[in-house]
Amino acid sequence: MKITCMWFLFSWLLFQAKFTTCKKQSSCNSADLSALQNFSSSLLSGIEGWNLNSSSTQDAKCCSWMGVTCNKSTGRIIGLDLQSMSLTGSISPSLADLNELVWLNLTSNFLGGNVPNKLFYLPKLVRFDLSSNKLSGTIPTYSNLPSIQVFNMSYNQLEGNLPTLNGSSNLEIFDVSYNLFSDSVNPILCNFSSKVRILHYTMNLLTGEFPIGFGNCLSAEELWLDLNMISGALPDDLFKLSKLKHLYLSENKLWGCMSTRFSNLSNLLELDLSFNSFSGDIPNIFASLSKLELFYADSNCFRGTIPASIANSGSLRYLNLRNNSMSGEINLNCSSMTQLSSLDLSRNLFSGPMDAVSNCLQLQNLNLARNSLGGEIPTTLENMKFLSFLSLTNNSFSNLTSALLNLQNLPSLTCLVMTRNFFHGEYLPVEGVNGFKNIEVLVIANCALYGAIPPWIANLTKLKVFDLSWNRLNGSVPPWIGDLENLFYLDLSNNSLTGELPVSLTTMKGLIRGNSSQQSTQTDNVSFYVKQNTSGNALWYKHIHSFPPSLYLEHNCLTGLILPGFGNLKNIHIFDLSYNRLWGTIPDELSGMSSLEIMILSHNNLTGNIPSSFVNLNFLSRFEVAYNNLSGPIPTKGQFSTFPYSYFEGNPNLCGFYSMKACWSNSTTQMVTENQEFEGLVAAVALGAVLGMTCTLLFFPLVLGRWGHLL
Ligand SMILES: *[C@@H]1O[C@H](CO)[C@@H](O)[C@H](O)[C@H]1NC(C)=O
Ligand SMILES: *[C@@H]1O[C@H](CO)[C@@H](O)[C@H](O)[C@H]1NC(C)=O
Ligand SMILES: *[C@@H]1O[C@H](CO)[C@@H](O)[C@H](O)[C@H]1NC(C)=O
Ligand SMILES: *[C@@H]1O[C@H](CO)[C@@H](O)[C@H](O)[C@H]1NC(C)=O
Ligand SMILES: *[C@@H]1O[C@H](CO)[C@@H](O)[C@H](O)[C@H]1NC(C)=O
Ligand SMILES: *[C@@H]1O[C@H](CO)[C@@H](O)[C@H](O)[C@H]1NC(C)=O
Ligand SMILES: *[C@@H]1O[C@H](CO)[C@@H](O)[C@H](O)[C@H]1NC(C)=O
Ligand SMILES: *[C@@H]1O[C@H](CO)[C@@H](O)[C@H](O)[C@H]1NC(C)=O
Ligand SMILES: *[C@@H]1O[C@H](CO)[C@@H](O)[C@H](O)[C@H]1NC(C)=O
Ligand SMILES: *[C@@H]1O[C@H](CO)[C@@H](O)[C@H](O)[C@H]1NC(C)=O
Ligand SMILES: *[C@@H]1O[C@H](CO)[C@@H](O)[C@H](O)[C@H]1NC(C)=O
Ligand SMILES: *[C@@H]1O[C@H](CO)[C@@H](O)[C@H](O)[C@H]1NC(C)=O
Repeated sequence: MKITCMWFLFSWLLFQAKFTTCKKQSSCNSADLSALQNFSSSLLSGIEGWNLNSSSTQDAKCCSWMGVTCNKSTGRIIGLDLQSMSLTGSISPSLADLNELVWLNLTSNFLGGNVPNKLFYLPKLVRFDLSSNKLSGTIPTYSNLPSIQVFNMSYNQLEGNLPTLNGSSNLEIFDVSYNLFSDSVNPILCNFSSKVRILHYTMNLLTGEFPIGFGNCLSAEELWLDLNMISGALPDDLFKLSKLKHLYLSENKLWGCMSTRFSNLSNLLELDLSFNSFSGDIPNIFASLSKLELFYADSNCFRGTIPASIANSGSLRYLNLRNNSMSGEINLNCSSMTQLSSLDLSRNLFSGPMDAVSNCLQLQNLNLARNSLGGEIPTTLENMKFLSFLSLTNNSFSNLTSALLNLQNLPSLTCLVMTRNFFHGEYLPVEGVNGFKNIEVLVIANCALYGAIPPWIANLTKLKVFDLSWNRLNGSVPPWIGDLENLFYLDLSNNSLTGELPVSLTTMKGLIRGNSSQQSTQTDNVSFYVKQNTSGNALWYKHIHSFPPSLYLEHNCLTGLILPGFGNLKNIHIFDLSYNRLWGTIPDELSGMSSLEIMILSHNNLTGNIPSSFVNLNFLSRFEVAYNNLSGPIPTKGQFSTFPYSYFEGNPNLCGFYSMKACWSNSTTQMVTENQEFEGLVAAVALGAVLGMTCTLLFFPLVLGRWGHLL
């Protein structure tokens, strides 16, 4: 709020200033006016307040036009600032005739086409900002911009070679990020200017070895080379940049050891080496990096233990060592790491207890998944007042009861994932749990748990995602589960649940209204494994709102009918009841699940027809009913025309294109509605008043043609 107000005040002042500057001397230099007219005529959109009709320069008063600034004494245009004006079209080369321009700011428009080369030869241009447009093509490697200080071409589709800004001795800010430049990086711009502070090359197609030469950028405070394809080891001269605060090298092809010379970069605030192939131990250099707030080294090949100097860093807020081969105990000294708010040590080989981290009282996100940690969850964890996200997946923790009793009082906990632990056949505690007041995600899958679904879950009113799959739970699906207001992802699959489907599941608000978790408090940069489907593919979900609204109840011993009321669930995407003992028919009403993508009912004891109304489920990409006792024709319209035979096999009485049997129907009209592809043909036959017999004769060769190899 404050920022917005200040921004308004600031813009208003600017506007006033501009106005007063231009009021007195508002007529234009005629060459400048002509350049503006040409510029304007190459745009597809007009610019409010630019009166292009006037023939004489006296009338034009272009110095008072929106975004135009003139030099009071010369009347020449020195500034053009048309940012965020929704401009479309291309940039006219005539713009370069404004050869007194000091600033040119066209950021945040929709300008396309090439950037005219002549713009790179403006002698007085200080600030040049074409960022956030749709400009394409190449820009000149060699230019003559002797006055340039700010050069921002980011967020376009520029390609080819990078500009070297030859001779630009005042350059301070250089940003070419988010383009398609495919050059190798050339730090030569620092040979021309000793003032370069900010260098952004993020997200291009830059290749080649990491160049020697950035060592000349002695004023550099930011160097962003992330999201490119730069290879090789880091050259020593990089470590001369003692003013560097932000060094982003993630997602390249860099390798080699992490140099001890990083300790010379003593002003670093952020260091991101993630998603490269750096190897060896992380050197013990962090005592020299006394300002470092962020260290990301995830997804490399680092080994060894956490160096003592990281484990004692008093400035670190974000530490991510995920997906390496680091080992040993987690030896963080949290009494000195007073700032640490996000810690990701997942996918390593850490062992021993997790007690050390439980003293990191500022932690909001803690991910220890996929290590070899064990023992009980320490009781001191309940002092972590800010802990919001906790994943302990795939370790060897024991005593679920003590874990839940310890964790339930964490006041900020919204997300708890403990999949693949507690292997000694533990029971889900029935009593004693009455906390978890803010929990939104609770996942305790694949833990060999016994017992019934405990009643205290009914009190977790904020629960959105609940997964107890792949355990040995018995008892019934409790009716109160459907009353959890916010629940939109329920996975109780692969247990031994019995009884009928409770009616309350057909009125689940979260599946009717859909997933309303956009406002979720969950911080980013956390991802956790939730579901492993039967084909062994893991489904990863990064945010609560990336979960599809789902009901997974497959592989249990559920009996009874599929309730027609499930058709109420307008926002459900995945509905899996396969491998149970359900009987009765597939209710026609299920076609009300209008967002449905996947329905799996196979391996039950269902009878009757496949409702033809299902052809209206436009998003359906899987519809599996194999191994039931269904009969009648398989619909062929809509999405059904894309389904393989395997979705329907094991139902001896199904007929139609997707079974081995043609439908020997009594009625031609039935055929017409069921067979879209041959609708025209059948209709023509019907028009000729031919009877059903002819119809089946017509169909049979076609059926043979498709499934001939099966017969
Ligand atoms: C504007 O465009 C016209 C025709 O395209 C050209 O003759 C004229 O020289 C241009 N004016 C400037 C200032 O570039
Ligand atoms: C400029 O002239 C065109 C016709 O030539 C007219 O339609 C338009 O309204 C005029 N614009 C202004 C701002 O006078
Ligand atoms: C305006 O032009 C004059 C003469 O070229 C120059 O001395 C002065 O610095 C300029 N003023 C601005 C604000 O650019
Ligand atoms: C261009 O304008 C935008 C918005 O006012 C501003 O953020 C940006 O810094 C300007 N660019 C330059 C190079 O001055
Ligand atoms: C360049 O422009 C982009 C988009 O307008 C902006 O986000 C970015 O901060 C600018 N770069 C620098 C270094 O200021
Ligand atoms: C680069 O600039 C230097 C002077 O700063 C000049 O001598 C040289 O010719 C320029 N190179 C190119 C290719 O423009
Ligand atoms: C850039 O400067 C460095 C040191 O000042 C020098 O060694 C190097 O040759 C220069 N590069 C070019 C291409 O001139
Ligand atoms: C790195 O720092 C050490 C002292 O901490 C100094 O002796 C050395 O010269 C520095 N190296 C570079 C390349 O600046
Ligand atoms: C698990 O923890 C609870 C509570 O801390 C304790 O009473 C119980 O004995 C523990 N169970 C095992 C098997 O250690
Ligand atoms: C649910 O919460 C209410 C009120 O806090 C409490 O009385 C009740 O015992 C709780 N139910 C369970 C099963 O824990
Ligand atoms: C399937 O249902 C029929 C009755 O509809 C019943 O006779 C049969 O035993 C059931 N089969 C199984 C495997 O439950
Ligand atoms: C065909 O119609 C007759 C009489 O209407 C009926 O008895 C028979 O069951 C029908 N056959 C099929 C396959 O629907």
